[in-house]
Amino acid sequence: MRAYIVEGGRPLMGPVRVHGAKNSVLPILAAAILAPGESVIHNCPALSDVDSSLAILRRLGCRAEQAGDTITVDASALTGSAVPDHLMREMRSSVIFLGAILGRTGEAELSLPGGCELGPRPIDLHLEAIRALGAQVREESGGRLYCRGKLTGGEIVLARPSVGATENAMLAAVAAEGTTVLHNAAREPEIADLQGFLRTLGAQVRGAGSSTIVIEGGKPLHGGEFTVMGDRIVACTYLSAAAAAGGSITVTGADPAHLSAVTAVFSEAGCAVRSGGGGVELISRRPLESAGAVHTAPYPGFPTDAQPPVMAALARGRGTTLFVEHIFENRYRHVSELRRMGADIRVEGRVAVVCGVPALHGAAVEAADLRGGAALLVAALGAEGESVITGVHHLDRGYASLEADLCALGGRVRREELNLY
Ligand code: UD1
Repeated sequence: MRAYIVEGGRPLMGPVRVHGAKNSVLPILAAAILAPGESVIHNCPALSDVDSSLAILRRLGCRAEQAGDTITVDASALTGSAVPDHLMREMRSSVIFLGAILGRTGEAELSLPGGCELGPRPIDLHLEAIRALGAQVREESGGRLYCRGKLTGGEIVLARPSVGATENAMLAAVAAEGTTVLHNAAREPEIADLQGFLRTLGAQVRGAGSSTIVIEGGKPLHGGEFTVMGDRIVACTYLSAAAAAGGSITVTGADPAHLSAVTAVFSEAGCAVRSGGGGVELISRRPLESAGAVHTAPYPGFPTDAQPPVMAALARGRGTTLFVEHIFENRYRHVSELRRMGADIRVEGRVAVVCGVPALHGAAVEAADLRGGAALLVAALGAEGESVITGVHHLDRGYASLEADLCALGGRVRREELNLY
C-alpha cells in the first residue's frame, strides 16, 4: 500500500510553481475531439485523471501522445462514439466527453459516472442542456446512456451554474448549427480557459467568465495550439500548507486573481499575504486566528475544492472558524481523520465548526477523496511528529509533484510502499 510519510513541524520557505490545472485540461482534452485536426496542448500535468482521459481518446480512435507536459491529440480519424463502462468509472469527470462526442459524431454512448464521493452528483443539468439542442437521450437500467440527434443551436437555461454542465453545453453547442445562448453559466476560470482553447480550433464562443455564453456553432474547426492555465486549487493547497506549517512561500504559475477568495481568508486569519509579480506570497509566523465564517460558493466565491485544505490549516490556531459547504452535501470526510490528529471540529449538516487547538499530532490517517487527502497532508505538515497518509491514489488524481514541491520548500515528505504484513 502506498503512503505519504510526513514529518511535521518544519516551516516551509521559498518559491513554488504550480502545474497546469486539472479542471482545465480535462475538458480541453475532451474538446479536442471536436476538431478533425491536431491539437497541441501545453502545461498538461502528469495526473491519473489525465491518463484516464488519454485512454478514452485512444479508445475512440484518436491519436493521443504525451511528451513532457505537452499532449498532442489528433482526432481526424475518430472511429467510435462509445466509452466503455470501466473507462467511465475511472474518473468522475468522464461525463465531459458527452457533449464533444455527440457534437462530433451525432451520437454518444456512455455510462453514468458511478459512486458517491462527495454526495450525490447527478447529471440532469448536462442532459437538459443537450436536449435543449435537440439531442434525444435514452437511459437504460444499469446507468448506460444513449444519446443521438443532429444538434441545432438554442437557448439553454441552467437551473444552477454547474461547471460540468456548462462545459458539456459549450462543447455540444460548438457543433450545433446556429446560435446557442447559455444562461446562468458557471463563471469558473476553467470555463474561460476552455473558451480560449475552442477559439484556437476556430470556434466562435464569447462570454465565458460571465453568466451568459454565446456560441455561433457549426463552424468548420481545425487543429490548434494552447497552454493550459495554472492550477488554482494546487496553489491554494500550498498556501494552506505554509499557513499550517509556518514560514514564507511564494506561489507562482496560477493567476493571483483566481486565489483572492482564499487569500482573503488567510489574511483574516492573521497571515501576511501579498500578490504581485505573477505570484502570491504568504507569510505565516504566528498562530492562526479565527477566519470568521467561510461559505463555499460558485466562482468568484470561496471554492469548495479549497475548503478541506484551508480547514486543515485553521484546525491549529487560536480562533473558531465556521465552514458552510453549499456546493456538495458530503464534503467533510476529512474531518474524522483530522480529529485523529487532535483537531477539534464538529460537523452539523452542511456546517463545520473548527475550534483551533494549540497543536496537532502526527497520526495514521486515510484519504477518502482528492481534496480531503490534501487536507491531511496540510495538517500533517503543521503537526508535531510523524504522520502516515494512505489512500494516496486520490491525491494522484490532482497533484503531480507534491513530494518534490514540498521537499523543495523544506518540508519532510516521502512516498513509500508500506508492507503491512
Ligand atoms: C467541478 C470540478 C470540481 C469542483 C466543482 C465545483 C471539474 C473536473 N471538477 O465539478 O473539482 O468541486 O466543479 O466547483 O471541473 N449538479 C446537479 N446536477 C447536474 C450537475 C451538477 O445537481 O447535472 C450539482 C452537483 O451535485 C453539485 C453542484 O451542482 O452539488 C455543483 O456541481 P458542478 O459545478 O457540476 O461540479 P462538477 O462539474 O462535477
